[in-house]
Amino acid sequence: MSIKILSVVGARPNFMKIAAICEAVREYNATNNSLSIDHVLVHTGQHYDANMSDMFFNDLELPSPNLFLGVGSGSHSAQTAKIMEGFERVLLVEKPDIVIVVGDVNSTLASALVTKKTSWTNQTGRDFIPKLVHVEAGLRSFDRTMPEEVNRIVTDALSDVLFTTEESANENLKREGVQAEKIHFVGNVMIDTLLRYRSKAKESTILKDLQLFDKDHAKPYAILTLHRPANVDDRETLIKMLDAFLQISRDMPLVFPVHPRTLKQIQEADLGDYFVDHFIDRPEPWDSRVRIRLLPPLGYLDFLELMSLAQVVLTDSGGIQEETTILGVPCITLRDNTERPVTLTHGTNVLVGSDCKKIIEEFTRVVRGQREIPSAPQLWDGHAARRIIRILVEEERRSAGPSGAEVQTIESQHPD
Ligand code: UD1
Repeated sequence: MSIKILSVVGARPNFMKIAAICEAVREYNATNNSLSIDHVLVHTGQHYDANMSDMFFNDLELPSPNLFLGVGSGSHSAQTAKIMEGFERVLLVEKPDIVIVVGDVNSTLASALVTKKTSWTNQTGRDFIPKLVHVEAGLRSFDRTMPEEVNRIVTDALSDVLFTTEESANENLKREGVQAEKIHFVGNVMIDTLLRYRSKAKESTILKDLQLFDKDHAKPYAILTLHRPANVDDRETLIKMLDAFLQISRDMPLVFPVHPRTLKQIQEADLGDYFVDHFIDRPEPWDSRVRIRLLPPLGYLDFLELMSLAQVVLTDSGGIQEETTILGVPCITLRDNTERPVTLTHGTNVLVGSDCKKIIEEFTRVVRGQREIPSAPQLWDGHAARRIIRILVEEERRSAGPSGAEVQTIESQHPD
């Protein structure tokens, strides 16, 4: 007997989450259970550049996607619509039992909508709609101007099974009326991947390449990532923030692997004077003339290693708030809110928004202060994806008929 699970990836932050699911499926199938999993991977092509997509497949040893929709960029509606059209065709051919979507990008929303609006006649002659599973459900920034918040709310409202990463997500879902039996608090699949690849990332030469390594130790440096429309799409907001980053770059090298959306803004708004291209101009790390050091987007292993040894990370990413929490690296978040409050209570995260003064104040406090050792959030232990697969298999077996033998085997191998 087998069940068919179809997992969807589209944009960069999806890849590290699905990598953990792929690994858990591989491990499950290797244990010779009578119920096997046929796993199909679909890439929507929302992110398509080599350094936004292909590099992650290599670094994370992801299997090549079985299907690639090649949707590319566009307005939110155009991109969502293209994914929906392509994904409907995929569902009608593949006819999976379960569709797994992760995170909060447009690919997540589009494939969730299609999953719950597509049906076919199954072997018993009944209309069948696949089960929709959302991994990283329930996170809320309570800011509906963020496209990701809209994607999260709609995806959660449609999902049959909701896997959560932190207690706040459980509370949000219950408050929104999601039945408790649909919600499973399993931990964080992105942290599964971080813990799995942490030692391999040590082989990266990125610090040497950036002249940030001196004999046997890393020199102090900071990292910046910035791509949220609220921060980069408005020239005035972007300039105010760049003034703060420029000040920081006089204290220590500030390396900035730049997202394509942000690079486009920098070029269009003619803000090149703030930057030096690290790989072309190769400034010495302590050169006082240096500006913010621009890099292309980095692969997973290089970025993980760079983040692990940084003095501080400045970011508006969601995932990086979680990764720095586990790495114990101070994180200054360039947003007024976070959908991941556990990173504030159990991690290193501090919210400063886009205000220049606050950014500098927090940077100064962090680099002068003692580094606090955070305690890892509950269940961020590297086993979230195994829990997810165990629960899905358990549910499938329950709905297929009475037999608990195999579930027992899996549970005894991977206790919570
Ligand atoms: C998307 C996600 C965001 C996630 C981010 C990570 C949504 C709504 N947003 O934002 O949650 O944090 O990915 O990167 O899904 N582009 C390229 N090459 C690429 C991809 C994008 O050049 O491979 C450029 C295109 O010009 C595009 C722009 O970047 O118009 C934005 O891409 P898009 O996928 O629409 O959103 P992101 O800003 O990347």
